[in-house]
Amino acid sequence: VTTMFLITAMVSTNRATVGGFFLAGRSMVWWPIGASLFASNIGSGHFVGIAGTAAAGGLAIGGFEWNALVVVVILAWLFVPIYIKAGVVTMPEYLKKRFGGQRIRIYLSVLSLFLYVFTKISADMFSGAIFINQALGLNIYLAVILLLSITALYTVTGGLAAVIYTDTLQTIIMVVGSFILMGYAFNEVGGYENFQSRYMEAIPTLTGVNISASCYTPRPDSFHIFRNAVTGDLPWPGLVFGLTVQATWYWCTDQVIVQRCLSAKNLSHVKAGCILCGYLKLLPMFLMVFPGMISRILYTDEVACVEPEECLKYCGATVGCTNIAYPKLVLDLMPNGLRGLMLSVMMASLMSSLTSIFNSASTLFTMDIYTKIRSSASEKELMIAGRCSNTQLSPLKFFGLHLL
Ligand SMILES: *[C@@H]1O[C@H](CO)[C@@H](O)[C@H](O)[C@H]1NC(C)=O
Ligand SMILES: *[C@@H]1O[C@H](CO)[C@@H](O)[C@H](O)[C@H]1NC(C)=O
Repeated sequence: VTTMFLITAMVSTNRATVGGFFLAGRSMVWWPIGASLFASNIGSGHFVGIAGTAAAGGLAIGGFEWNALVVVVILAWLFVPIYIKAGVVTMPEYLKKRFGGQRIRIYLSVLSLFLYVFTKISADMFSGAIFINQALGLNIYLAVILLLSITALYTVTGGLAAVIYTDTLQTIIMVVGSFILMGYAFNEVGGYENFQSRYMEAIPTLTGVNISASCYTPRPDSFHIFRNAVTGDLPWPGLVFGLTVQATWYWCTDQVIVQRCLSAKNLSHVKAGCILCGYLKLLPMFLMVFPGMISRILYTDEVACVEPEECLKYCGATVGCTNIAYPKLVLDLMPNGLRGLMLSVMMASLMSSLTSIFNSASTLFTMDIYTKIRSSASEKELMIAGRCSNTQLSPLKFFGLHLL
């Protein structure tokens, strides 16, 4: 099916030009855009991180996902019209147009590339590796190199259109697969009422001698999204004001996200795509947060461990094992056939984020850095640079790998 999508993407756009390769010929309609925004955002880091945080502290982390609902609207109505009017392909290019000078453009593109490696790629690889390690016991480095080769191949050959269409397919796999898992999880725990009461009682049996009770007892405000400004672990002013600033940076000025909007046919499709993405962002609360909390109920001793030696035994880390909340559900709760489906969900989320990041990184490299080095580069030359930088980024990718 992926091959079919790739071929469709390849014949339907002219990939020999910058607009064709990096902006999918500016011909995308709203539903692949919305799905691709979602898939680029949701990586395996979300399944591991959000479910883990939920297992540890309750459902407030789901509010972080819901915050995006407001910001995608700001993106479509406020930011994208400006970018389209300016006729830019990348964010550094926009800053150059707006403020003049070359340094700001180079600075932002180099900074973005570094942030991609150190924040996005490494976090997703780390959580993908936790999964592969828990599931298959496979050598992590081998698995990651394999994944990278596949993703790099279709980013290089297909351009943005191929990435967006495969993102769409992967969104469907992700949503269907994790919906099934959520069903199994709620069935196992006995419905929402039972879930609420049993979560509050999920205390590990081994609690050590000198460990404070607040470390292993579920928080009294576990089922609140807006938590006390002073005593809460995720205080509400941070959720409402602080996070909105960060989310505006991520959703409105990040190349990975903006590039998808710029590939749209016209502004109506951008708006519809962003609204679709907003609706999809309602799902993580149900698909990741609740299952993560249920995992703590079902596997209390492992997921909520506090005794360092115990934790080391279960997940190889002494500081706690909440990261394995979601992988544990997939591996222990799902029947055999569905376990395979869920593994492909995890791989889909990992690969859809990685391909999006690689594609945007190569766009930044080609449009902002390569054109600076070779100011008279022809379009053909830029296309070659764009495809190569997908592979030339490899040293950077492996740099990211060492963070594992
Ligand atoms: C517990 O803490 C007390 C005081 O901090 C200390 O004297 C005692 O040795 C600790 N016990 C263990 C088993 O670590
Ligand atoms: C955008 O394109 C669609 C057709 O794909 C058309 O119906 C719509 O009116 C267009 N919107 C604008 C603002 O041009």
